[in-house]
Amino acid sequence: MKKILITGGAGYIGSHTAVELIKAGLEPIVLDDLSNSNPQVIDRLKEITGKEITFYQGDCNDRSTLDTIAKTHQLAGVIHFAAFKAVGESTEQPLKYYRNNVGSLITLLDFMSENKIPDLVFSSSCTVYGQPEVLPVTEATPRQEAESPYGNTKKICEDILIDIVKSQAGLRVISLRYFNPVGAHPSSKIGELPIGKPNNLVPFITQTAAGIREKLTIFGNDYDTPDGTCVRDFIHVMDLADAHVKAFTYLNDKSKDFYDVFNVGTGNGNTVLEVIQAFEKVNGVKLNYEIGPRRPGDVVKIWADTKKINAVLGWTPSKTLEDSMRDSWNWEKSLK
Ligand code: NAD
Ligand code: UFG
Repeated sequence: MKKILITGGAGYIGSHTAVELIKAGLEPIVLDDLSNSNPQVIDRLKEITGKEITFYQGDCNDRSTLDTIAKTHQLAGVIHFAAFKAVGESTEQPLKYYRNNVGSLITLLDFMSENKIPDLVFSSSCTVYGQPEVLPVTEATPRQEAESPYGNTKKICEDILIDIVKSQAGLRVISLRYFNPVGAHPSSKIGELPIGKPNNLVPFITQTAAGIREKLTIFGNDYDTPDGTCVRDFIHVMDLADAHVKAFTYLNDKSKDFYDVFNVGTGNGNTVLEVIQAFEKVNGVKLNYEIGPRRPGDVVKIWADTKKINAVLGWTPSKTLEDSMRDSWNWEKSLK
């Protein structure tokens, strides 16, 4: 069974990907420092998959931890999720973000090249597109200057990956540009666990419905969109997890150095109000919300052109916005 190191594998997207890797007959080796996750996730992964999960608690900036893992396991590849992701915090503490997000990638690339581990799937983000002029965005849409140090770390990491593959380091790399991941595993055993007040829309919706937050504020309804609220491409985390399995399998079949980038979204844009309405309808819950001022720095509208990932990786999403809203709510309720 091929072993794949998953950095940040106890986190939101990494944990769901671990489930899908096991389903595909691959063995995840999870490395996480638990800076933004809970060790219980590992037990939950065992419950869902019925398999023992190899887990290392450690920092992927720490070369000695990586070397210990490589001595014990022959790794076929790495899926690198580990990063800090709070946009606001990144503007206050940029070095924390550059050190962790860029530093960990550099350490990993050294480690992979010295240990002849060929395949890497990297977590990038649609944030690299900023506010695009033409929609939907394809992978050829020009990237824009990042709005935040967090966004810049994704852009820098993508550039590092292009350069390292050109240098013939014996690496095959795919960067996946995620749109807005939402939803949870249908078992409600794993899901997104925001620490403190959520910044993102869907955790704020579910926490409001659960009574943890008094009300949701919609940041602006006077944008140039169908109902005035911002538009995003909300992708179910299980579909996103499946994209990683497809990306890894595709890379693993290649014989030469390789770099490519793929959008991972549904290909549809939904407004903030549509998301709220879908949540209310599918769950039979009334949400307390109000319209507030615009949030500075918000992209007005973005959604993915997914033709490339459909055609090349043979990936298409299977879940609807309603599935995402149901699974997110079931997950929130399971936390009580
Ligand atoms: P998450 O915070 O839930 O997961 C990241 C995990 O990495 C956490 O468990 C954290 O403890 C761990 N971690 C952080 N730094 C580490 C380090 N140095 N060593 C070991 N472990 C470390 O976040 P997520 O939503 O699962 O995001 C995963 C990746 O996807 C990140 O790279 C993120 O930037 C990217 N991404 C996320 C979104 C999103 O909206 N969730 C969108 C686009 C891209
Ligand atoms: N929103 C509200 N009220 C809230 C929270 C969000 O109206 O309480 C709105 C936002 O204004 C935005 C939409 O909901 O219009 C989505 O906001 P999110 O914060 O959930 O998502 P963003 O697309 O703004 O940003 C997210 C991550 C970024 C990442 C980006 C692209 O937070 O880190 O997706 O992947 F870069």
